Amino acid sequence: MQQDPLFQEYENLKKQIHYHNYRYFVLDAPVISDAEYDRLVLRLKQIEFSHPEWVTPDSPSQRVGGMPLEKFNKVRHPSPILSLANGFTKADVLAWIERIRKLDPRVADADFVLEPKIDGLTVVLNYQNGVFTQGATRGDGEVGEDITANLRTIRSLPLVIPVNPDSPAVPDWLVVRGEAFIFLKDFEELNKRLAQSGEKPYLNPRNTAAGSLRQLDPSLTASRPINIYVYSIVASSAPLPQTQWDLLQTLKSWGFPVAREIKYCRSIEDVLNELDTWLEKRDALPYEADGVVIKVNNLELASSLGYVGKDPRGALAFKFPAREVTTRLLDIGVNVGRTGVLTPYAILEPVEIGGVVVKQATLHNFDFIREKDIRIGDHVMVKRAGDVIPYVIGPIVEMRTGEEKVFTPPEVCPACGQPVSHVEGEVAWYCVNVTCPAQIIRNLEHFVSRGAMDIVGLGIKIVEQLVESGLVHSPADLYFLRKEDLLKLEGFADKKAENILQSIRDSRSRPLSRLINALGIRGVGEVMAEELARHFEDLEHLSNATVEELMEIEGVGPNIAKSIVDWFRRPVNQEFLKKLREAGVWPTEQKPSEIREEQPLAGLTFVVTGTLKEFTRDGIKSYLESLGAKVTDSVSKNTSYLLVGENPGSKLEKARQLGVKLISEEELKQIIRKNK
Ligand code: IVH
Repeated sequence: MQQDPLFQEYENLKKQIHYHNYRYFVLDAPVISDAEYDRLVLRLKQIEFSHPEWVTPDSPSQRVGGMPLEKFNKVRHPSPILSLANGFTKADVLAWIERIRKLDPRVADADFVLEPKIDGLTVVLNYQNGVFTQGATRGDGEVGEDITANLRTIRSLPLVIPVNPDSPAVPDWLVVRGEAFIFLKDFEELNKRLAQSGEKPYLNPRNTAAGSLRQLDPSLTASRPINIYVYSIVASSAPLPQTQWDLLQTLKSWGFPVAREIKYCRSIEDVLNELDTWLEKRDALPYEADGVVIKVNNLELASSLGYVGKDPRGALAFKFPAREVTTRLLDIGVNVGRTGVLTPYAILEPVEIGGVVVKQATLHNFDFIREKDIRIGDHVMVKRAGDVIPYVIGPIVEMRTGEEKVFTPPEVCPACGQPVSHVEGEVAWYCVNVTCPAQIIRNLEHFVSRGAMDIVGLGIKIVEQLVESGLVHSPADLYFLRKEDLLKLEGFADKKAENILQSIRDSRSRPLSRLINALGIRGVGEVMAEELARHFEDLEHLSNATVEELMEIEGVGPNIAKSIVDWFRRPVNQEFLKKLREAGVWPTEQKPSEIREEQPLAGLTFVVTGTLKEFTRDGIKSYLESLGAKVTDSVSKNTSYLLVGENPGSKLEKARQLGVKLISEEELKQIIRKNK
């Protein structure tokens, strides 16, 4: 078998895929494209299909394998998994140094390493002969739970080390400690996805990471964006580097992810200065961290200092000032989103959290309020992490006076007064009134936004004015607005009205995918809209699609399929589409091969001069291009038409000399109509 070229190829592929995983997930510096990577994985799977006997647990295909477990086995750690003493001020740091200097004078000249203290779940990872064999939770520090199958699903966790054959030799037996966590950005994306498909969002990154790793089904863990950073070696069969800094570098070179923010400090003075920087950049950290760990760099010195209880003396956790405060919940407000979802939010007695005055915080959903028994008037714990919107953690029941009021979700929409509805099994409550002004505003805001029709200059203020004045009931009304309508609104003068009307006209040439996204169908975002545009090529086809047809499309599950069908079935939406069509907002998607033949202006080259009535320069360019034309800057004998607006420039003269046809905007429309 060793001689079999296919086996050689298989072994080689495994190494390559591990290496590219490492480049992508650990170094964030891929060296091949996604398509090339997919090809390697496909080839690996092909070989594994014909030779299942070759597949070993270290194959990159084995990240998710097997059935959900019945229960976790217990694992005894090779040595106790210790914790850390805390410090809160620089004085605490100096007092710690003073204590350990008295125990060992070498501390006076010591150097240090700073590491982020990430708020996640501690994990202990075993490697035998360079292969990941077992991973466990910390448990009580002596015995943890075997969560190997779940940990395997973490893409940044190396299944085989060293990932790169040039790095230093790996001990036959190695036990590494690290923290599993979720990046704030990934957490927000995850929640957005869950909310879009009507599922319950998670409350915070830490509990999501910990919860996903401590449940029995590895395929659920695999669907969560969990990451890992390692920072110490618990046990090893070979001698280790002598300093914490070298140890981190060695771990990194073997292929383990190590926090980018680690910092070497030559002296305790450097540490103290550096702490200020950490406090400043705390909000910019991409994960939740509750402090900085200060570690004596010399590992022999650190270990000789011994322990106080379970805390090693050689390290101190410098905790960031709490971003959790208590304040009073004055009231609970309810927002109406563009799809009619009602979302509760906390109206708080203003409170400062880390230099920011917080007056409102998210309460997630009505179930959360009920499950946590949060009452109006309660003292509540509020947390702010990174740049994420602050959120309520829960009530402080001991502080109740008896005056607190239980909150009941509204039976009618706070914006329009119509009854609200609830789908069994979903967390959300909806206002289903299509004429609800709050929904119209949110809808219009979405319709004009960047990823949708991108109507420049139409901000939330104007959106509100348009809806509240009754000029706009549905986004299609935008295309029928007249200048005199806008001039009636406060703050509108000639120029502003013209600019807005121009932006609205320009938006007619947006591609179909943008329009589909703009419709605001629940569960259909930018990516899905592109998929739908490619597949159906026309709104007419999409509007007639059945749930079964829709479910054939990548990424469309039963919930989204149903949501799309329901959307097109509603009379109010049919009316909306009819109006869009009347306004000429009806783009179609063409397959690349059809573009030139089927587009009305295919093969024609245009040059534009002067100011046009209905279009800006960019607007006409993208409009003509969307119809298949080429648009160039200067007139030549290859120019098919010069489109002439008011106050034309020298291009007009040049076109006349060359005998290029001149047309007005009106004539352009006729050409388009004729060619369609
Ligand atoms: S060192 C002897 N370093 O903070 C080693 N801990 O009680 C003691 N933590 O839950 C831990 N980041 O898992 C260390 N860079 C880091 C850490 C870190 C997070 C966690 C640790 C434990 C708590 C300390």
